[in-house]
Amino acid sequence: MKKSDLAINGGPKTLDKVFPWPVFDEREVEVLADTVRSGAWGNPNCDGEVARFEEQYAGYCGTRYAISCVNGSVALRLALMACGVRPGDEVIIPPYTFIATASIVAEANCVPVFADIAPDTYNLDPVAVEKAITSRTRVIMPVHFAGQACDMDALSALAHQYGLKIIEDAAHAHGAAYKGKKLGSIGDAGCFSFQSSKNLTSGEGGIVTTGDERIAAMVDSLRNVGRVRGGQWYEHHYLGCNYRITQFQAALLMLQLGRLEAQTHTRNENGLYLNSLLKDIPGIRPLTRGHGETLHSYHLYIIRYDKQYFNGLPKREFAAMLAAEGVPSFMGYPEPLYKQPVFQKKNFLNYAIPERVDYSGVCCPVAERACYEEGVWILQHAMLGDREDMEKFAEAIVKIQKAVYL
Ligand SMILES: Cc1ncc(COP(=O)(O)O)c(C=O)c1O
Repeated sequence: MKKSDLAINGGPKTLDKVFPWPVFDEREVEVLADTVRSGAWGNPNCDGEVARFEEQYAGYCGTRYAISCVNGSVALRLALMACGVRPGDEVIIPPYTFIATASIVAEANCVPVFADIAPDTYNLDPVAVEKAITSRTRVIMPVHFAGQACDMDALSALAHQYGLKIIEDAAHAHGAAYKGKKLGSIGDAGCFSFQSSKNLTSGEGGIVTTGDERIAAMVDSLRNVGRVRGGQWYEHHYLGCNYRITQFQAALLMLQLGRLEAQTHTRNENGLYLNSLLKDIPGIRPLTRGHGETLHSYHLYIIRYDKQYFNGLPKREFAAMLAAEGVPSFMGYPEPLYKQPVFQKKNFLNYAIPERVDYSGVCCPVAERACYEEGVWILQHAMLGDREDMEKFAEAIVKIQKAVYL
């Protein structure tokens, strides 16, 4: 083995395979063609295929209601509004997540408050959450990061004790479960994204799940220009907007939903197998299982990398080498969200964020370590491979480890 054997240096790849995403066949093509022919493309009355999909998704998640909308970000914002937040209310979120989890809080004129993640799951740490609670806190918004359930028992206990709402950001967690319950069905509301990289996709789209009739009715109205069921076409009760999805998206989503359960089990089993393959490689620690997640959707498979065991090779370079070896992978977020210019420079435009808000001193050490040093992601479509692929992923890591010492 020589350094030049690494694929990044022109050597052969450990695996040369395409992991297709999205997964579809002629049925998706036909259903879209049928929708074209039907002429019913839009969704002015929130009915037709859209209503059918919403019913199916609610049934799948085990919630009474599911209300679709244009994307996962809007789903989160509408859920927040429907939970009755007021300007200046605080919403506790993790800093190791996509920007939308934080930006939509500000778009609802609320204050994102960052609480650190736990080192073994990269999910919100309930101890950090409790420390972040003030008299202004109204909502905890846990992100089931990568598809692994947050500690919902501990978070629900805090919500109960302090009188807070829980909105689950389940953008990574379609089909995943906590103690046998589907994620998105545990808090006051759950929010999913159907953007193209997600485990259930129609290119774009989102949905709010809830068991609460009032939250459901408000989300339904807000996504439909403030109309109410039974009201007139030009009768608007709330400051909503047109956030409706199309019949095309709903038709696609119903077929994709039919594939989701089997895909989730495949990813879950591959994840467990990959854990067993990586556990003895020094400097590579998968996030830990066994925190109540009865089904992990592995939107991401995350390894914690330690450069000490890779001759000091920075994470960014390791991740580039791994990708070059043919493992669909990525170094992840470059920094925790509170470091983003929008928060450091308070670029809040005309949103009603109180003057007191200041992120310059925020520090969440676990999230910083995850971004700068540790977290490397293998992407969900690669987790739909077979056992041999998982073995190749492990082989690629060992190849890099050997090569950096030559
Ligand atoms: C954790 C998380 N929350 C929310 C979103 C927002 O979803 P969308 O892109 O559909 O608006 C994403 C999207 O990547 C996400 O990863």
